[in-house]
Amino acid sequence: MSKKVFNIGILGTGWIADKMAKTLAKMTSARAYAVASRTLDKAEKFASEFSIPKFYGSYDLLADDPEVDLIYIGTPHSHHFEQAKMCLLKNKPVLCEKAFTVNTPQAEELIKISHERKVFLAEAIWTRYQPMRQMISKVINSGIIGKPVMLSANLCYPNIAQERMYKPELAGGALLDLGVYVLNFADMFFGSDIKETSSHCIKYHTGIDAQESITLEYSDGRIAVLSSSLIAKSDRQGIISGTDGFVIVENVNNPQSYSVYNQDYNLVEKVQCPPQITGYEYQVDCCINAISQGRIEPLEMPHEDILRIMRQMDSLRKTWGVKLSDSDPF
Ligand SMILES: NC(=O)c1ccc[n+]([C@@H]2O[C@H](COP(=O)([O-])OP(=O)(O)OC[C@H]3O[C@@H](n4cnc5c(N)ncnc54)[C@H](OP(=O)(O)O)[C@@H]3O)[C@@H](O)[C@H]2O)c1
Repeated sequence: MSKKVFNIGILGTGWIADKMAKTLAKMTSARAYAVASRTLDKAEKFASEFSIPKFYGSYDLLADDPEVDLIYIGTPHSHHFEQAKMCLLKNKPVLCEKAFTVNTPQAEELIKISHERKVFLAEAIWTRYQPMRQMISKVINSGIIGKPVMLSANLCYPNIAQERMYKPELAGGALLDLGVYVLNFADMFFGSDIKETSSHCIKYHTGIDAQESITLEYSDGRIAVLSSSLIAKSDRQGIISGTDGFVIVENVNNPQSYSVYNQDYNLVEKVQCPPQITGYEYQVDCCINAISQGRIEPLEMPHEDILRIMRQMDSLRKTWGVKLSDSDPF
């Protein structure tokens, strides 16, 4: 029997929607079946560009389409909550871009609805679903660098001129757009037993966080030093340092390789990322697997992990006085 091809509905027609459409075009397990925009013309143009069979001039109409198996939300952070809620209330499975929501109360409400209605809900934080995650974990746990004790990660793109980045009402700022990746990097490889967090933030004139540094101290004495910025360009490296060597991950935004160095700074091993379509295919496949198995959350990024990262981000924004929504819990 041939396997079902999942019909993906793309909500939004911006930068990431374009990447998702290009990804789906090369997948065999899923296809871009429909797209929705606030404007019918935009939806039609997008559909024609990517040969998508259906297009809608409203997000609601996309969620009403009985043929849609999973809705991918690719809109500004400020809108994730209301759009994901609308889809879930129509019993539509959702894969929502990072940052999942503006704050924890919004994330909690979506997760509650997902559990009550038994409808699938996931965050599109692509690095969690990629094979490189397991490959990096394996090399760290192999003992080759000794005991891992220090981690650093940075992600900086000078994108502050974009409306979505500098506007508080679109839930802009470096943390929700980029910091979320370095927090996830630390969480994936150093876990969540954090004793203390300290941080510094430089604000933009609009009130959003332009750049920040975050230090996490773990109960067992490990430390993670993280930075993200919307005004700088950086090397995007993640480095896990152990007592006997270190691992350098190229691009924490979509790991392309890892290199292992020994005590003498000699390269022991360099491993490239397996071939990708774009790297976005893995999150789609993980959602398909979960839904096919009757789960309402993916194993790779369970709801509990979404909430843990959201709480970290709320707490950091509270420290900095960066308010993005009336529903912020501070
Ligand atoms: N995983 C990744 O690598 C990655 C990379 C980039 C972005 N992202 C995430 O993807 C999401 C979208 O980012 P993007 O860069 O694609 O944004 P974008 O290019 O600005 O597109 C956002 C889209 O959202 C829709 N939208 C709905 N309400 C809006 C509003 N009030 N203002 C502006 N747009 C609105 C628009 O589509 P219509 O006009 O058609 O309705 C617009 O095209 C964010 O959550 C971001 O963090 C992820």
